[in-house]
Amino acid sequence: MDKQINIQETLDWYIWAGVTETCADSVCLCKEPENIPAIVADKKAPRSETPLVKVVSPAVSPAKTTLNTASFDNIAKNARELCAKANSLEELKNLVQQFDGCNLKKTAASTVFGDGSAQARLVLIGEAPGADEDRIGSPFVGKCGKLLDKMLAAIHINRADCYITNVLPWRPPGNRTPTDEEIAICLPFLKRQIELIQPDFLLLLGGIALKSLLDMPDSISRTRGKWLEYVIDEQKNAQVLATYHPSYLLRSPAQKAKVWSDLLRLQKKMNNDE
Ligand code: URA
Repeated sequence: MDKQINIQETLDWYIWAGVTETCADSVCLCKEPENIPAIVADKKAPRSETPLVKVVSPAVSPAKTTLNTASFDNIAKNARELCAKANSLEELKNLVQQFDGCNLKKTAASTVFGDGSAQARLVLIGEAPGADEDRIGSPFVGKCGKLLDKMLAAIHINRADCYITNVLPWRPPGNRTPTDEEIAICLPFLKRQIELIQPDFLLLLGGIALKSLLDMPDSISRTRGKWLEYVIDEQKNAQVLATYHPSYLLRSPAQKAKVWSDLLRLQKKMNNDE
């Protein structure tokens, strides 16, 4: 592993392999660096669809750290207690911004809290901020957000009348899938947003929102388009519909027809026609 690597060749190789960003200022290769010169030489090999390397900083590791049970229980309890103190979305936002119990905060540029109407009848829940959201500090403002706006407009729903949020307020490095631990630590923030808003409807965007909020074993493909219920508190339940995440639609446009039928179901129910 003492082998000297030509920096220009390595960078060329990153780009060729599909790497589009770095997460921190010190880098290490996660995949067999000794193979790089061979791969650089063989540019005819098929280009990887997904990045073959991750760029990580050992100091602020974006890796999936696992806490011991006692620390995890403490952090999760702390998050729940903090949430209970918030009597408005503004108060909750401030508390989330001050919360240091989730490792994702260390690598994120912003805390991306929910956005929209505190009186919304419909709350939309995504997974986690992407690169654009992390830079700008608001949910669904990048490519996915533009598609989401079009999806809402197609069923005559104004984004400003909804509330849009994510399971996680911090971007996982490189958009990796959040761990169960990260989800469990951040879930009280999402649940408290829902309690404070008391919406009639929830639209879950993608499998992570579905799994996190409803703890369902079934996949998004089996569950999408079916009406479910979420117990907000003793007084109120919300009607829940899950559908595919807009980022999945950007990758798989053929699935748009299914989402369109889910959106029509939502529109009908919201207009009391179903
Ligand atoms: N994807 C999400 O799940 N949430 C965002 O805010 C943006 C992209």
